Amino acid sequence: MEARGSSGISMKSLERVVSDKALKLGNSFPCQICVVGFLCGICLTSLFVAALTSIGTFELAAFSFSSFSPPCNSTSQIINMGADIDMKLKWKNKAEPEEENDDDQVNLLVSAWDNLLLNNEDYFKKLWMNKSDVPNAPHLENCEERTRARERLDTRLSNHTFPSWINGGDEDNYPLTRRVQREIWYHQHPLDCEDKSLKFLVADWETLPGFGIGAQIAGMTGLLAIAINENRVLVSNYYNRADHDGCKGSARGSWSCYFLPETSKECRKRAFEVMKKREAWERGTVTGKQNYSTKEIWSGHIPKRWGKPWSYMRPTTEINGTLLTSHRKMDRRWWRAQAVRYLMRFQTEYTCGLMNVARHAAFGKEAAEIVLSAGGWRKKKKRSEIEESVWSSHKPWIPRPMLSVHVRMGDKACEMRVAALEEYMRLADRIRERFPELNRIWLSTEMKEVVDRSKEYGLWRFYYTEVARQVGNNSMAEYEASLGREMSTNYPLVNFLIASEADFFVGALGSTWCFLIDGIRNTGGKVMSGFLSVNKDRFW
Ligand SMILES: *[C@@H]1O[C@H](CO)[C@@H](O)[C@H](O)[C@H]1NC(C)=O
Ligand SMILES: *[C@@H]1O[C@H](CO)[C@@H](O)[C@H](O)[C@H]1NC(C)=O
Ligand SMILES: *[C@@H]1O[C@H](CO)[C@@H](O)[C@H](O)[C@H]1NC(C)=O
Ligand SMILES: *[C@@H]1O[C@H](CO)[C@@H](O)[C@H](O)[C@H]1NC(C)=O
Ligand SMILES: *[C@@H]1O[C@H](CO)[C@@H](O)[C@H](O)[C@H]1NC(C)=O
Ligand SMILES: *[C@@H]1O[C@H](CO)[C@@H](O)[C@H](O)[C@H]1NC(C)=O
Repeated sequence: MEARGSSGISMKSLERVVSDKALKLGNSFPCQICVVGFLCGICLTSLFVAALTSIGTFELAAFSFSSFSPPCNSTSQIINMGADIDMKLKWKNKAEPEEENDDDQVNLLVSAWDNLLLNNEDYFKKLWMNKSDVPNAPHLENCEERTRARERLDTRLSNHTFPSWINGGDEDNYPLTRRVQREIWYHQHPLDCEDKSLKFLVADWETLPGFGIGAQIAGMTGLLAIAINENRVLVSNYYNRADHDGCKGSARGSWSCYFLPETSKECRKRAFEVMKKREAWERGTVTGKQNYSTKEIWSGHIPKRWGKPWSYMRPTTEINGTLLTSHRKMDRRWWRAQAVRYLMRFQTEYTCGLMNVARHAAFGKEAAEIVLSAGGWRKKKKRSEIEESVWSSHKPWIPRPMLSVHVRMGDKACEMRVAALEEYMRLADRIRERFPELNRIWLSTEMKEVVDRSKEYGLWRFYYTEVARQVGNNSMAEYEASLGREMSTNYPLVNFLIASEADFFVGALGSTWCFLIDGIRNTGGKVMSGFLSVNKDRFW
């Protein structure tokens, strides 16, 4: 499943350049998290060319396709082709022997799904294939349909149990999760946005280069706490990471490119009107980030309107072999989990598309094998009622059980004790002793060397993003220019969302990103999965 790139620069040397660059960045700003962004930005060729060229039969399709779509300038072209997804991510599944499995049926199905994702009509025409005959992909979602459903669920009219974005029972989540989520939603969606007594907090996301994507989100959770304490509707404004061509129209530069917005359209509009009036600022009807100190934003008061649910939080975190029953700042841990869950409650169609691409690249082949072993290209039947109204809300398939391992290294040294992959893997082995059926790892890391080292653990099957091969003769300058906003946001977010789907968790709670993964686990019905950490948050 690998394209034989005709690149001028070998992949190895590219990787070395990237790692050196990352190291340099890491050294000169030891505490900054920009390395992630850098490594993520690697835009190289795309999944579809890879998939197509690996199957002799479809070379024709592949070449004609790639020739009118220059690989490294590709986002816009691909989008113009009607598939609003970023195909530049290349994900790799280590255990997949390269070109050994010559199962044409599997390859054909994977490639048909590739082209469904790309909405590439030509492919189906060329192969005399009817799109509607392609078997359903269990790992893909119909994003248009799902987004419509999610938007409907995100309204007051909905008859569904609110908040429908919470999975699992009360005992599978942090205390009061359902109630808190519902009440944050109502707080953020007042009935009448024109109500003169409404107050707003309008805030941009942090934009200083020192703030990694995780820190930006953590900052916003602090602002949400302030907004709730001061009875203001939080309106998040400019989000620099969404300021790229993937985010269209009003979603450009806005959180709403990736997730359904934190407040209603009406209140957002109203907040922007109010903001223009000086009296509104003087009267305190509207405040901005400048009205609050860094301390208030980062370590301010956690809303108390729900009492102190963290005081009876169930400890399910193990650090250095000890189950941590309590620690400092439990309140902040509880709150960040709630706020992140709220902010990420529903993916947009754009994010859904990115997730499809990522899941397809990582698990598509396994999915195809399963589908074929269950009967292959059978004629599809019309969707039945139970599919429409009962099974439709099921999450897309991923291989299970899956362990999420997030490894932080290098740049984080001054915030926390840095652990080597060996330490994480020791924890993984510990989980496996108890759950011997576990042999898959979703590995997310910004470090190339971690990915290399993972090859030493033959008893595990790793899934991770891979810096894809370069196709074509792009110069280094072009290549660097292609490391952009878009990739450096999409890649970690998608990794994060897949990690949050895992069954077990290993990480470094000292890193904000792991802290957030832990939060989304604890409000995602996975309290009882536990979290084994190589270190603890520096404030605990
Ligand atoms: C890449 O895209 C930009 C903007 O869409 C365009 O100006 C440029 O000519 C493109 N380059 C190539 C090689 O297609
Ligand atoms: C594809 O299948 C659909 C439904 O089965 C049918 O309506 C349509 O005519 C077919 N298209 C072609 C080109 O065969
Ligand atoms: C909600 O339920 C009521 C009655 O149970 C029904 O009349 C209404 O159409 C439902 N609304 C939606 C949006 O499903
Ligand atoms: C917020 O800051 C603005 C100036 O940026 C000031 O005019 C206003 O009084 C402040 N509001 C509050 C509630 O402190
Ligand atoms: C982990 O625990 C052991 C003893 O149980 C101790 O010697 C070691 O220093 C601890 N490591 C860290 C990083 O706290
Ligand atoms: C890349 O290839 C094209 C023709 O395929 C050529 O015109 C162009 O000069 C080459 N660019 C570089 C940087 O080698």
